[in-house]
Amino acid sequence: MELRDYRPEDAGPTLAVFRRAVRTTAARDYTPEQVAAWAPDDLDPVAWAERRARARTRVAVLADVLDGAVAGFTDVDAAGYVDMLFVDPAAARRGVATALLAWAEATARADGATELRTHASVTARPFFAAHGFVVEAEQHPVRRGVTLTNYRMRRPL
Ligand SMILES: CC(C)(COP(=O)(O)OP(=O)(O)OC[C@H]1O[C@@H](n2cnc3c(N)ncnc32)[C@H](O)[C@@H]1OP(=O)(O)O)[C@@H](O)C(=O)NCCC(=O)NCCS
Repeated sequence: MELRDYRPEDAGPTLAVFRRAVRTTAARDYTPEQVAAWAPDDLDPVAWAERRARARTRVAVLADVLDGAVAGFTDVDAAGYVDMLFVDPAAARRGVATALLAWAEATARADGATELRTHASVTARPFFAAHGFVVEAEQHPVRRGVTLTNYRMRRPL
């Protein structure tokens, strides 16, 4: 597995990973209406590219998955907030998210952060719990008029 910094040409592939992760993996835990609100067809690719480039984004590549295209990605800010962590269903349970989270941890530590924080989906909650995060609150954000469920989770560094 190779981890590397996000490049402008990763915009399309990271958006595709996001959509597949939500529509296939997270679809186990969310209704079709919730999935459609979370990962809609009409997401603006330009806004996506700008957001990914602005965030400190790291991508993972596996030579034998998706012909070596992006298999997962994450980001972390200087305070230790992890906004996105998505792994393609074709690369599930092979340690991609674990490797990306280890990068986020090391990066946040180097910035002087004292904790990692995230808003974990129902699907990702067991992953974060397995990595030492604890739930602080259940949340119900509304996207496109549809109520979702996620968890505010935190782990000291
Ligand atoms: C959550 C997610 C990022 C995990 O990615 P992954 O690369 O498959 O995770 P890893 O292989 O690194 O998992 C490592 C460990 O985490 C735990 N884990 C991961 N997914 C799990 C699940 N669905 N249920 C229970 N434990 C899980 C396990 O302990 C696993 O170890 P194991 O495979 O030896 O049992 C991925 O499933 C995903 O993209 N989900 C859909 C999108 C999403 O919800 N993203 C998060 C938004 S906050």
